[in-house]
Amino acid sequence: MSAELLPGDEVEVEVGPVAHGGHFVARHEGRVLFVRHALPGERVRARVTSGGPGDRFLRADAVAVLTASPDRVTPPCRYAVPGGCGGCDLQHVSLPRQRALKAEVVAEQFRRLAGEDVEVEVEPVPGDRDGLGWRTRVEFAVDEAGRPGLRPHRSHAVIPVEDCLIASDGVRGAGALARDWPGQRAVDVVAPSEGEPVCVPVPDGEPHAPAVTEHVAVGEWSQDFTLSARGFWQVHPGAAATFVGAVLEMLEPAEGERAVDLYAGVGLFAAALADAVGPTGAVLAVESDPGAVASAADNLAGRESVEVRAGRVDRALKPLVRQGIRADLVVLDPPRTGAGKGVIADLVRLGARRIAYVACDPAALARDTAYLRERGYRRTALRVFDAFPMTHHMECVALFEPAPESD
Ligand SMILES: C[S@@+](CC[C@H](N)C(=O)[O-])C[C@H]1O[C@@H](n2cnc3c(N)ncnc32)[C@H](O)[C@@H]1O
Repeated sequence: MSAELLPGDEVEVEVGPVAHGGHFVARHEGRVLFVRHALPGERVRARVTSGGPGDRFLRADAVAVLTASPDRVTPPCRYAVPGGCGGCDLQHVSLPRQRALKAEVVAEQFRRLAGEDVEVEVEPVPGDRDGLGWRTRVEFAVDEAGRPGLRPHRSHAVIPVEDCLIASDGVRGAGALARDWPGQRAVDVVAPSEGEPVCVPVPDGEPHAPAVTEHVAVGEWSQDFTLSARGFWQVHPGAAATFVGAVLEMLEPAEGERAVDLYAGVGLFAAALADAVGPTGAVLAVESDPGAVASAADNLAGRESVEVRAGRVDRALKPLVRQGIRADLVVLDPPRTGAGKGVIADLVRLGARRIAYVACDPAALARDTAYLRERGYRRTALRVFDAFPMTHHMECVALFEPAPESD
């Protein structure tokens, strides 16, 4: 019997398919290894980074490539290496292959969790610059000496860095990495589409943050959104407009319709929907974060057909269902955990003719797809956007419509 693998041990393995989370599956003497910095078909020397006897799998880094994939490239950033910054999982992969791998992950999640076969092409977000220079919001960690840096994968350590190549020009030019931040836990750097970048130190506890303005334009439609620099906003500069465009195209809102925007943030989809359904229509936006609710109220002010409701979606839907309120259209854009069975059970009772689901985790989307199908909605469209190049993350926009009676 062979010795059990422990962190620090190195083994030669053949690398198999991509798995959700930025790693690749390999096997050694019956044990499963999730290997980072590798590619399918490669032979690598993998160093175990965590796990041990009794664990279902081990984690490892490819520390030497013995047979390289043709899709392997030299990472543009010197920190994107085993043991380096954990932010970019895929810098060693050509951009077309990164997108193909993400498409495989989406297909695998849908097959496993929704029992559906999907074929998707992962689309670049307009304005993409070879996958670099896109991140308009970066939280730099600060070490005990006050030096800013980034964290390795699954670690609380801080690696001092001089630059971050996926950060936007505004973030890189803000100067946060050129000085120390004594006494701070982190520093958030935000480069909004309008105005100057801001550096917001993050002490322990809730920090005060300045407001920033983001301009979004989709075709003829445009609006400025004001929000806290620490509030939720899509980090790719082209993402907000791209997702609004995709949602409007899928929902095809008409004058006078009633729409519900769940997990509404600062009102991005609610604003676009309100203008599409016009003053004879109605939009209800539901959001739980008090800061986002206040921003949404400001951003949507002047549109009498819009109501912003503060509260959790799971609680806010119940009274609507009890009162028999109906909606023609629903947008939902939940956090990574997805909406979940309870929320789906309530939202289908609004009787919408179309539901657009914006998802940052394809696994959560696939689970909710299964719940929607159980309750009479079938998925009729799916787009996937590479809104986080060089990382394993992506954004999906799916459309659901009532299934014909015979389904
Ligand atoms: C992925 S963001 C989407 C925000 C917005 N749709 C946008 O695109 O800018 C998810 C939002 O859901 C909010 N949220 C998280 N859990 C929630 C819940 N249970 N009920 C209501 N809102 C929630 C968060 O505060 C956040 O604003």
